[in-house]
Amino acid sequence: MIFVKNYKQIEKMRKAGHLLYEVLCKLREAVKPGMTTAALDAYAEELIRRNHAEPSFLGYQGYPATICASIDDQVVHGIPSDKVVLQEGSILSIDCGVILDGWQSDSALTVPVGEITPDKQKLIRVTEECFFEGARQAVNGNRLGDIGAAVQKHAENHGYGVVRALTGHGIGRNTHEDPNVPNFGETGRGIRLKSGMTLAIEPMITQGDYRVNMLDDGWTFVTHDHSACSHYEHTIAVGDGLPEILSLPGFSWADYSQSAGEGH
Ligand code: MF3
Ligand code: CO
Repeated sequence: MIFVKNYKQIEKMRKAGHLLYEVLCKLREAVKPGMTTAALDAYAEELIRRNHAEPSFLGYQGYPATICASIDDQVVHGIPSDKVVLQEGSILSIDCGVILDGWQSDSALTVPVGEITPDKQKLIRVTEECFFEGARQAVNGNRLGDIGAAVQKHAENHGYGVVRALTGHGIGRNTHEDPNVPNFGETGRGIRLKSGMTLAIEPMITQGDYRVNMLDDGWTFVTHDHSACSHYEHTIAVGDGLPEILSLPGFSWADYSQSAGEGH
């Protein structure tokens, strides 16, 4: 069942989203070669609690940490560890969720560790573009498949793989709500999107094969061919016009379209 949120509920999700954005900005700045992912996780938890919020992932279905820290061929759900030391040249997906006043936000970004190759820079950039291409379809009256189709088209235009086994999701009082939000699909298919639906859209894009496997830890997903993967996620609210990106304060679709060179 899909829970449609009212204005006041979205206001609370906006507050959670804005806090999460601040947390992720600080985590991005903290990433350095030589740092452990456990240290990054501890910093994330401290930032969240300092702001009177709670980490939503910690304890979720038994998940043991505040962030997911997924490196290179790891797609998502990498468990932070004091044995995992960040290496120059890697890319790191940091995924985090917060609960503030009962309402949730979920967001992820992929950051370079030190200097990375142009190939990896491009993968990160195109994955972010995939998110915006998908998110801009999240308009009252459109179909769920319009989102996935837009993500898939942009990724495949660049020769990348779109992970299918994992999807985005509805979000609100709960981390995962209906509907699932696939990153592939066909325009005009799926449920009709409605103002007040709140979704976490999260493309996971690979340099090669889109298939993934789970590691023996029961959490970490890696690409089947061990090609690098990038992940980018925001919590959005469907509206009558273009969606509000609740976890990206100050974002403007007009500015984005201009920087993408589209002039509209
Ligand atoms: N953003 C992640 C997802 O949507 C949330 C991970 S929940 C976890 O899958 F706590 F189980 F890791
Ligand atoms: Co998510």
